[in-house]
Amino acid sequence: MKLIEVVNVSKSFKGIQIFNQANAVFEQGNIYGILGPNGSGKSVLFKLICGFIKPDQGDIIIHPSYRSRRADFPQNFGIIIDRPGYAAGLTGFENLKRWAEIRNQIKDEDIKRTMRVVGLDPDARQKMKSYSLGMKQKIAFAQAIMENQQVLILDEPFNAMDVDSVKVLRELLIKYKQEGRTIILTSHNEEDIELLCDQVYQIRSHKLVPVNTMAKV
Ligand SMILES: Nc1ncnc2c1ncn2[C@@H]1O[C@H](COP(=O)(O)OP(=O)(O)O)[C@@H](O)[C@H]1O
Ligand SMILES: [Mg+2]
Repeated sequence: MKLIEVVNVSKSFKGIQIFNQANAVFEQGNIYGILGPNGSGKSVLFKLICGFIKPDQGDIIIHPSYRSRRADFPQNFGIIIDRPGYAAGLTGFENLKRWAEIRNQIKDEDIKRTMRVVGLDPDARQKMKSYSLGMKQKIAFAQAIMENQQVLILDEPFNAMDVDSVKVLRELLIKYKQEGRTIILTSHNEEDIELLCDQVYQIRSHKLVPVNTMAKV
C-alpha cells in the first residue's frame, strides 16, 4: 500500500531551490532512509510530508486512512523534526504528559512504559533544563512513539545518544516494521542506514534518487 507519495514536488525558499520536480513513494511496512548533505532538504522533505509547509508545485499524497478529518496534518504520525519546545522547569515525565494531554489517548502508565523503553527513568525528579542532549533526544523519541503511532518520521533520531541506547532503539524500530509500521528516517551514521533501511533515497540535483542499498555491500 502506498502510504505517502511525493509527486512532482518543487519547493524554493527566497529563490533558493530545494526540490525541483521530486518524486518518491513510501510503502507501508518499510523503513526508508533519506540521505543528503547538510542543507540539502531532508528536514524540508519531512515538513512537507507532515503538512507543516506546502509545496510550491506538486503534491504530497497521504493515504486516506492517515488523513486527519479536522486538519491538513496526517494522523497517527509520530514525528521528530525540530526538537519539540519543552518546559525546562518540568521533568521529562511532566513534559511528555503535557504533550499526551493534547490528544488525551494514553494513560500515565503508557508514558512511563515508553520512558523505560527509551532508557529514561520515569520517576526521576531531574528537570529537563539539566538534561543532556542525548536525554532530550530520548524524550523526543518517546514523544514520537508513546501513542503507538503507525508512521514514524524521524529526523536524526539517534542524535547524541549513547551506543547502547542506539542499539536498543534500532531493534525497536525493526520490531515496529515487523508489526507493519512505516518509518522514514535520516541519519548521518551509515550503519543506521545499512542496518535499518529497506530503501534509501538520496537528495541529488533537487530530486529524490533511489539508491540501491545492496550495491553498497
Ligand atoms: N522556513 C525556511 N525558510 C527559509 N529557508 C529555509 C526554511 N526551511 C529550510 N530552509 C533552507 O532550506 C535548505 C534545506 O534545509 P534543511 O531541509 O533543514 O536541510 P537538511 O538536509 O540539513 O535537513 C537550507 O538551506 C535551509 O536554510
Ligand atoms: Mg535537517
